[in-house]
Amino acid sequence: MCGITSYCGDRKASEVIEVSLKRLDYRGYDSVGVAVSSESGLDVRKGIGGIDEIDEELGLGNMEGGVGIGHTRWATHGKVSEENAHPHISCDGRFAIVHNGIIENWDNLKEELDGCSFRSGTDSEVIAHYIERKARESGVEDAVREFMAEAEGSFAVVLLDSEKDMLFAFKKGSPLALGIGEEEVFVGSDAYAFCTYTDKAIFLCDHEYAVLKNGEYVLRDAEGRTLERKIKRINYDYTQDVDSRSDHYMYKEIMEIPEAIERLDGSLKLEQKHRLEEFQNKLKNKDRVVLTGSGTSYHAALLGIYFLQEVGVEAHATVASEFKNYGRIDENTVLVPISQSGETKDVLEAIDYCRKMGAEIASITNVPHSTVERKSDANIRIRAGQEICVAATKTFTNQLYLLMKLAEGLGGTKLGKNISDTIRRLLDSNEEKIKDLAVEIEGKKDIYIIGKGETYPVAMEIALKLKEISYIHAEGMMGGELKHGTLALVEEGTPVISLIPNGSSEIVSNVREVEARKGNTIKISPSCGRFNIPETGTKGFVFLSTVLGFLLTYWIASNKGLPIDKPRNLAKCVTTK
Ligand code: M6R
Repeated sequence: MCGITSYCGDRKASEVIEVSLKRLDYRGYDSVGVAVSSESGLDVRKGIGGIDEIDEELGLGNMEGGVGIGHTRWATHGKVSEENAHPHISCDGRFAIVHNGIIENWDNLKEELDGCSFRSGTDSEVIAHYIERKARESGVEDAVREFMAEAEGSFAVVLLDSEKDMLFAFKKGSPLALGIGEEEVFVGSDAYAFCTYTDKAIFLCDHEYAVLKNGEYVLRDAEGRTLERKIKRINYDYTQDVDSRSDHYMYKEIMEIPEAIERLDGSLKLEQKHRLEEFQNKLKNKDRVVLTGSGTSYHAALLGIYFLQEVGVEAHATVASEFKNYGRIDENTVLVPISQSGETKDVLEAIDYCRKMGAEIASITNVPHSTVERKSDANIRIRAGQEICVAATKTFTNQLYLLMKLAEGLGGTKLGKNISDTIRRLLDSNEEKIKDLAVEIEGKKDIYIIGKGETYPVAMEIALKLKEISYIHAEGMMGGELKHGTLALVEEGTPVISLIPNGSSEIVSNVREVEARKGNTIKISPSCGRFNIPETGTKGFVFLSTVLGFLLTYWIASNKGLPIDKPRNLAKCVTTK
């Protein structure tokens, strides 16, 4: 999965692309490249690393020309190397392409291209050579259409024709948006790519393509017929600067949790009120609700089960990448896909599968106008604002808040008043204690987190963050399961964090089992342990324990000097299977 961006207009294309790549590097930061159509032909510059690491050295913003393409890569097909960095160039040097997705039949397409010299180990390079070969026979636009018809897999591609100073943007399966300015057009994997320049966008559908020349665009379908499409106004909730107290977006985004909740709450009372009611009706009127998501969003889905079952809704959760192994989908099912980005491939496949089986789709997303949102019958945006750190924090808590509100509207127990202020106070009064705990356990090889009921998904979520951000092996589990095997790994000093809402006596006995083996029991609880946690009921405790867990993983990673916002091998949005 990667980020792509392009520009066609009167500005210096490379300057626009440089800004845009900085906005997109959450989509991947293995390598970066830019190609601009200059008077002397294509100017191509690329290197290994994220945009901030290589920008100055390569002078990515200083290339002459008004038409260009850029790419930031998360390696899937082919190792991280300069040859594999995009853009890829045709043999005659006329065409350059950037691609997000996977061309599954790249080897078959390659076989047809005898005589071409391939320079990379990627599936993407085949696009440049294919277009060069076909354009000779039938022209570039026909070549684009033929490629769309022949290529299998998913792709969002921008092709730069340096001979004509034109761009062709086309897609199937992977997202692609046009940003519309005054006599200038932008292209991006999402609207954040061009949010600095315009709030007007068009989202391409599969098998459509756009032709860009002299700052203007035409949109066409697979047969080459011109399409009219309404331009959407984007209301960007994007952020730019990290918090003055920290160098990291993760810290800033944890601190933003209270205001993100307030923003969502306000929108559910006003502009999203109808969406909330429509969503609740769908949940009520079907036999079964199946929640799905990946990673953190899957943990939100798990919590959704507890909230919905409390109000008598038959609710299940299944992880998106295993969705097809879940059998019970029919026209009496509502699928609730949960996805921050709204572009996660596994989630999109679950939606397509459920659609085929006749289910309704009511989704929960953060990024506006995402593919998940567009594929849904009903949708609510969690309004957390742009989340830049790869680790999901404020979006997770907003997903939970929305799930609780959905259940509350169906008769569920209410979350105590003013959870956002309670979180603010919690952060203020516990940060120093969290820092001390981080020092205490940062050198440990394994950490266990135990929960029960609603705090079990929270335990899983804290464990995921410990792995992802702090690079510590961690397991989040049900406290009651400890004695069925994992307890064998607990020895003197092994940290076991237990999430104990008031009145949870069963988990207290699990804690005793750990204490008896001299494990280091760390209690997160309003009734015991080292933290100042107000009594808020179990639903409130879900938020408070999550927030403390996030902060702990942040400070461990910070003490270890790790690349917190861009952990190794990961990317914010996973658009491959
Ligand atoms: O955009 P999504 O919510 O669909 O993303 C799902 C996961 O890739 C994501 O939550 C991932 O697990 C996070 N990096 C965890 O912090």
